[in-house]
Amino acid sequence: MAKITPRPNGPLLAQEVPNLSGTNGKAIDPGKPAYALCRCGQSQNKPFCDGSHTDAGFTSDNGDAKIRNKAVSYKGQVEGKEVTISYTPVLCGHIADCQRLHRAVFDPTQKPWIQPENGTLEGITAVIAACPSGALRMSVGEGEPKHIDSDEVSIRVVRNGPYIVKNVELEADFNGEGASQKEYILCRCGHSKNKPFCDGTHYDLKWRDH
Ligand code: FES
Repeated sequence: MAKITPRPNGPLLAQEVPNLSGTNGKAIDPGKPAYALCRCGQSQNKPFCDGSHTDAGFTSDNGDAKIRNKAVSYKGQVEGKEVTISYTPVLCGHIADCQRLHRAVFDPTQKPWIQPENGTLEGITAVIAACPSGALRMSVGEGEPKHIDSDEVSIRVVRNGPYIVKNVELEADFNGEGASQKEYILCRCGHSKNKPFCDGTHYDLKWRDH
């Protein structure tokens, strides 16, 4: 079974994950069923661990960092239906697919930054399905807003950003209200305050692969 185990103060151990792809979108063959992925941001052999976390003094402890793990809801009428979009800031990796796909609704230059009434059901649904972190969820009418998960089983390395993981069991507690436990993003830069998850800090720090 596909599984990821974050090692304390060390790498992410991936086992039996059928698809690993790199920052160029191409498949990577790790050559073995179990391998260690860097999460301190220092390896010279990314995405794999080369042991640099020890010299770097990497710690996976988040200490008493304050994180915004509560969901915020945005409601609006879309094509005659009440649509709720729920957003949990700490889960967002600033990959910005939402803005690219449906800027009329997801526009960080506006207040509020999510305005469902400006969009279409098709467009909003496409964004929720594409959101790699599960930070965005939706409901139409009654019911809890939910992320739209895919069936793919994979790990994808984002250039200058996190690992996007789909349908791989994670040996860690999920922290972030409403988090999808099937699709999530894991910190690769070493600086998240919500490890092992990415919390977007790589974006604030302008972290780079090299
Ligand atoms: S990769 Fe996003 S916070 Fe580290």
